[in-house]
Amino acid sequence: MTSPAPLISARALTLSLGRDAARVDILKGLDLDVMAGETVALLGSSGSGKSSLLAVLSGLERASGGVLFVAGADFATLEEDGLATARRGRIGIVLQAFHLLPTMTARENVATPMELAGMTDAMSRAEAELAAVGLAHRLDHYPGQLSGGEQQRVAIARALAPRPALLFADEPTGNLDAATGAAVADLLFDRARQAGATLLMVTHDEALAQRCGRILRLADGRIASDETR
Ligand SMILES: Nc1ncnc2c1ncn2[C@@H]1O[C@H](COP(=O)(O)OP(=O)(O)OP(=O)(O)O)[C@@H](O)[C@H]1O
Ligand SMILES: [Mg+2]
Repeated sequence: MTSPAPLISARALTLSLGRDAARVDILKGLDLDVMAGETVALLGSSGSGKSSLLAVLSGLERASGGVLFVAGADFATLEEDGLATARRGRIGIVLQAFHLLPTMTARENVATPMELAGMTDAMSRAEAELAAVGLAHRLDHYPGQLSGGEQQRVAIARALAPRPALLFADEPTGNLDAATGAAVADLLFDRARQAGATLLMVTHDEALAQRCGRILRLADGRIASDETR
C-alpha cells in the first residue's frame, strides 16, 4: 500500500515582495508536509512571516519560488485567477478582523461564496452552518448588529460551509476578549473536526497552540522547529 499524499506539500518555498531597494525576503526556503487530519499551530515572533506563510499556503498570495501543492492543486504555477478558482471549495480562511461584508446579513455572508461557486443549495447550507455555530437566531442580522464573537462565528461558518479540505486561521481570537476568544477557539476546533477539515492556525497564544497536534515555530522566514505531539 502507498501512503496518502500530503494535503500540503511545500519545498524550498520563498516569498519576496517589493523590488530593488524595497525588496523584502519574507519566506526564505521552507519545506513542509501537512497530512489530512492534522491540527497545526504556527507560532513565531511578530514579523517572522506567519501571516505571509498562511497567505501563500491558502493561495491568497503566490509564492516567489519553490514547489507548492495544496489539496492536489499546483499553487506555485497558478496565476491569480487560477488560484482563486483553486481556493474555491478547497480552502476556508478565518482572519483576525472578521472581514464580513457589512451590507449583507449573516446568512448572505455565508451563502454568497457558495452561490458564486455555483452551489444550488447555498442558502440552506448557510442556515445549517450558522445553526451549527449557535447563530440560528441571528440569520438576518448585519455584521454591525453582531458582537465580535458572533461575527467571528459567522466567519467560521462561512469558511466551513463549502466543506473545504483545509481551514486556515490567522489569530482567529486576536480581536476578542479572553472569555469570548476561548469560546470561539473551542468552536473552531469542534467545527473543523466535525467538518473533516485539516486546521492550520496562526496564534500568539501558547495555550491555544498546545491544543494542536503539531506546533511549527517560524523565525525570520524559516521553520525553526516542528514538534508533533
Ligand atoms: N506587502 C509587503 N511588502 C513588503 N514587506 C512585507 C509585506 N507584507 C509583509 N511584509 C514583511 O514581511 C515580514 C513578515 O510579515 P508577516 O505579516 O508575515 O509577519 P507575522 O509573523 O504574521 O507577524 P505578526 O505576528 O505581527 O502578525 C515583516 O517583516 C513584514 O514587514
Ligand atoms: Mg501576522
